[in-house]
Amino acid sequence: MRDTDWDGVRLHVVTGKGGTGKTTVAGALALALAAAGRKVLLMEVEGRQGIAQLFDVPPLPYAERRIAVGLGTEAHQGGDVFALVADPESALIEYLEMFYGLRHAGAALARFGVMDFATTIAPGLRDVLLTGKAAEAVRRKKAGRPVYDAVVMDAPPTGRIGRFLNVTSEVSGLARVGPIRTHADTVQKVIHSPETAVHFATTLEEMPVQEVLDGIAELRGLPGGGIQVGGIMINMVRPAELPLVQLREVAAGLADEHELALGLKAAGIDDSVRLAGDLAAELTEQAVAAVGQDLQRSRLAEPGQPCYDLPMITDGMDLGGLYRLAAALRDQGAA
Ligand SMILES: Nc1ncnc2c1ncn2[C@@H]1O[C@H](COP(=O)(O)OP(=O)(O)OP(=O)(O)O)[C@@H](O)[C@H]1O
Ligand SMILES: [Mg+2]
Repeated sequence: MRDTDWDGVRLHVVTGKGGTGKTTVAGALALALAAAGRKVLLMEVEGRQGIAQLFDVPPLPYAERRIAVGLGTEAHQGGDVFALVADPESALIEYLEMFYGLRHAGAALARFGVMDFATTIAPGLRDVLLTGKAAEAVRRKKAGRPVYDAVVMDAPPTGRIGRFLNVTSEVSGLARVGPIRTHADTVQKVIHSPETAVHFATTLEEMPVQEVLDGIAELRGLPGGGIQVGGIMINMVRPAELPLVQLREVAAGLADEHELALGLKAAGIDDSVRLAGDLAAELTEQAVAAVGQDLQRSRLAEPGQPCYDLPMITDGMDLGGLYRLAAALRDQGAA
């Protein structure tokens, strides 16, 4: 087995600003982690069926279903990726059945309106049920060995990640003692352990990058020594057309239109002067964007976490594209 940057991490939480690729990155990471016969659970907690859409399978239930084969290597076939859509209601029913032996708990609870309590009145409880399900999957064993080598969670966006993961303090107002408290403490132990890492998906734009920086600061500052920050997955990266030095010149308005026009004329193109003007304008626009992205890159380097580039898939995101992203993560040592 080769070394990766996150050996020892078994719960990979993926957050980031909305729309930057949390679900896509989580899916790619699950495929990458499932190399060499490993078994990985990819989990969704926002009830949006994003995983089903990404892997092009029918809507997923609250049950662990095999949805894909992990990235293969030269020596080994890929292992299995399972998926689970966790919702707080089902997690509560399962929890009660598992820990209290309450059969048919669901029907009874629904009658008494406990579901509304769990989901609307007590948001902290809602979260502990979801993170609890992830912790349970991480800890689950069969014949003395973990059932899953890794669990990947497509988590809530950065703005909510701290509260979502910091369940103990959220639940403490609700339950000071008793089984819910004990459950929350167990979950909290897993989340604060070196077995958990929170990765950030982002694009090279100002707002998503700011959310990464704020999110990292928040996780590091959480009571109890914080929560381990993972990698920064820079998503939708386009290859640069020119070296950065040259781009800087172009962005500064130094594109030599006259020289461009001469070049075009030499190539036998009519109207070379007007075309050169258009080209220079487009080049400048691209250069300004590229220089801006370089600035965002240096901001992302500040917290000192490993950064990984994921290419922009230009011919439509499908399973093939997802495996390409998985390979990029693996090649860069993220999995
Ligand atoms: N590397 C990529 N190349 C091309 N398209 C991408 C890439 N990554 C993500 N996308 C596309 O960008 C869109 C947003 O991605 P995704 O759904 O993964 O983001 P998200 O952060 O999970 O969004 P939400 O906040 O809505 O849950 C999708 O249409 C997805 O196919
Ligand atoms: Mg999503």
